[in-house]
Amino acid sequence: MPGPGMELIGEEEKRELLEVLESGYLFRYGSPENPAFKAKTYTLEQEVARLAGVRYGVAVNSGTSALLVALSGLGVGPGDEVIVPGYTFIASMSSIVYARAIPVLAEVDRTLNLDPEDVRRKITPQTKAILAVHMLGNPARLDELKAIADERRILLVEDAAQAFGAKYKGRAVGSIGRAGIYSFNIFKTITAGDGGMVVTDDEAAYRRFFAFHDQGHSPLRMGVEVGRRPFIGLDFRMTELTAAVLLAQLRKLDTIHNHLLANKQRFKAAIADLPGIGFREITDPEGECATLLVVFLPTEEVARRAAKALGTKVLADSGWHVYNNMEQILEKRTITSEGCPFTCPYYKGGKVEYYPHMLPQTDALLGRAINISIGVSDAGLGSAFGVTMSDGFDGVDARVEEFRRVYKEVVR
Ligand SMILES: Cc1ncc(COP(=O)(O)O)c(C=O)c1O
Repeated sequence: MPGPGMELIGEEEKRELLEVLESGYLFRYGSPENPAFKAKTYTLEQEVARLAGVRYGVAVNSGTSALLVALSGLGVGPGDEVIVPGYTFIASMSSIVYARAIPVLAEVDRTLNLDPEDVRRKITPQTKAILAVHMLGNPARLDELKAIADERRILLVEDAAQAFGAKYKGRAVGSIGRAGIYSFNIFKTITAGDGGMVVTDDEAAYRRFFAFHDQGHSPLRMGVEVGRRPFIGLDFRMTELTAAVLLAQLRKLDTIHNHLLANKQRFKAAIADLPGIGFREITDPEGECATLLVVFLPTEEVARRAAKALGTKVLADSGWHVYNNMEQILEKRTITSEGCPFTCPYYKGGKVEYYPHMLPQTDALLGRAINISIGVSDAGLGSAFGVTMSDGFDGVDARVEEFRRVYKEVVR
């Protein structure tokens, strides 16, 4: 099963969906006077915003569109640079490119999230925002990143696509930057197949996000609009069908979190005594999603042998999340030949260069790291080995034995 939410799709989701189908309202807008209209998308926005502890949510059709809405809505555009980790999903970079700004790749540290020291080094007069990604459910060093953003008067935006439901020191991820985004694709904590959300506590930003996601309209398309649309928007709306499934999934979030946390702690404790083994640094052990357990092996060579024996791969070889494996960004393969935004005359930062192994610290960490699935199983992520939600404690114990045996064989 791809992600934990996907494993729990059942009667509750069916009931929610049926309610929408029977209501006759599949579109997010309906008649408030008609009791048949269930306003699932609006309800989901309210519930996710409440969970995040902020005032506003805008539901969209994917995490990628949520990123584009957040960045463009906050005014990121031509001439700007956005600092982004070299270990992330391509959407964190492609959304910057489609906002017409320049992604500046930065190192990750032992959290496998942005290294604040490298972020400081990468700031230039062109820097408009830091895009902090909470990879594999583990919150980035938000205190440090927020302090840098405030000190340098730049935006902090959170890509919490992989960390819906995670908390950092008691606050929901996504709520600490000016805006945060979530993804609801099938590999994420909760899912409807696809879907996304932007959250913010800033009313002006919310109005811009809403307008961008729906053709320039004011929130909920209230009021007379002609002559008053602030800019040209697009359509990234979520349907009532998607929102219905997500509402049912949202009610399962605590079950998912508690299950994953218990299984992860059990797995980790059972292998912690292995000589030379290391673990990814977790910024908030109670608050993280616990979807994956990342181990560091003593050397890259040992890590590769262990990964092979376990039927998986080291994180450096993950096809989806490592900048070295992203030819579309390394070679700046833009959709038309003019090369915008890399050739944009508004950009004063000089020639933009990306090349393999430009982030040696990131490469060294990812080369020694193996992902153990605790609830997300995805070969593209490098998490083919591990357990899923349904394996329970017995599944963990069997996998621990397998891991210990392989580890002892390769680390001599
Ligand atoms: C870190 C990160 N950002 C953004 C996205 C994009 O989300 P979606 O697949 O919903 O467009 C993903 C999805 O995998 C992701 O992992």
